[in-house]
Amino acid sequence: MHDSVLSVSAPASGVKGTVQVPGDKSISHRALILSALAEGTSTITGLSRAEDPTHTRGALAQFGVEFTDQPDGTVVVHGGLRHEPVDVLDCGNAGTGIRLLSGVCAGFDGLSVLTGDQYLRQRPMGRVTEPLRLMGAQVDARDHGHLAPLVIRGAGLTGISYELAAASAQVKSCLLLAGLSAAGPTTVVEPHPTRAHTEEMLLATGARVEINGTAVTVHPGPLTPAGHHVPGDPSQAAFWAVAAALAGEIEMPNLYLGFGRADFLNVLRRMGADVQMEASTGSVRVAAASLCGVEITGADVPGIVDEIPVLAVAAAGAKGTTVITGAEELRVKESDRIASTVAMLNAFGVRAEERPDGMVIHGQGDRAFTPGQVDSAGDHRIAMAAAVAAVARTSGQSTITGWGSVATSYPGFVEDLVAVSGARAQPI
Ligand code: S3P
Repeated sequence: MHDSVLSVSAPASGVKGTVQVPGDKSISHRALILSALAEGTSTITGLSRAEDPTHTRGALAQFGVEFTDQPDGTVVVHGGLRHEPVDVLDCGNAGTGIRLLSGVCAGFDGLSVLTGDQYLRQRPMGRVTEPLRLMGAQVDARDHGHLAPLVIRGAGLTGISYELAAASAQVKSCLLLAGLSAAGPTTVVEPHPTRAHTEEMLLATGARVEINGTAVTVHPGPLTPAGHHVPGDPSQAAFWAVAAALAGEIEMPNLYLGFGRADFLNVLRRMGADVQMEASTGSVRVAAASLCGVEITGADVPGIVDEIPVLAVAAAGAKGTTVITGAEELRVKESDRIASTVAMLNAFGVRAEERPDGMVIHGQGDRAFTPGQVDSAGDHRIAMAAAVAAVARTSGQSTITGWGSVATSYPGFVEDLVAVSGARAQPI
């Protein structure tokens, strides 16, 4: 359902309030997968109910893993992969889902077929098929091993030491999950550190994991069942943080603020936003200030890889120029996010240009944006970033096509948008 359109008319009053953002998507995928791998009963509280992790849950159910929903929202997982998947594993739009699950499938003695929607089937999979083959899995895929569907016959793996060409938590996680059932240790070395959820959650579920700088090693062994709590998703909080930095004040409790996920708050601070955070409770409050342009380089990118589209909206409302380099990974996300972010800004009358590895944004300062007709390119983060631009800096009616993609990560976004902004917003 990626064809609905959001029509949004912004009030002049800006944004104000408290938002309880949904459970973290990255942690939700991992809580489901690690619970499924552990023989016995695990529980998950705060699980994201968005489409992406729901596809991961559906894929794991094909292996005979049982999930039950308690009335209080807790999900009880009866773990243990019981049999070969009985059907194709449909990962929907989720890059994290397909890449992490491919590591699980490579370690499992059986045949798995993984696929996804039209966007996921265009995203590069050679980055997981190649190292999984080196570990001994039989892996085939469309386009000579590069595109989903993927066909994996797993088991009989041997641990490897592997240097990632691009910083990717998804690829790191794929190989660590495969490494759980390989003979000998598996080491992944990253060019820049990325989010550490997999290694942290593996440690919490009884795996032997060693972390040395940018090298992570996992030793084979079973996982133990656990009680997982999923905190609020900082990447979703980023939309409200930017809306507040441009036009008001918003508070968000219970966010995950651990390694590699809260760097967007530092970028907003560098721009001049008023950002308060309390690490012990995960509470963040952002308030408007006069923003200025910043420089973002390759080493910054893994820590803000999902927040760049909405940070670009903040840059558009800042004084001066923002230059982003070393961000070529954005070209292979849910859309080509260098092209789609620049096109989204241009649709609001903001001057911005693509560079091969990033973009240049000419901030408008205090000047309003013109209402936009935006094409989200089927990408949830472009759609939500555009909604933030519309409510924070336009008066008049904007439209955002491809709005249905927002359900992949934040099904309640429109309700939250209306609550904090008083905007008239209606998906049609
Ligand atoms: C994710 C890692 C990132 C991020 C994605 C979620 C994860 O991708 O863009 O939305 O949960 O591991 P890469 O690791 O490929 O950069």
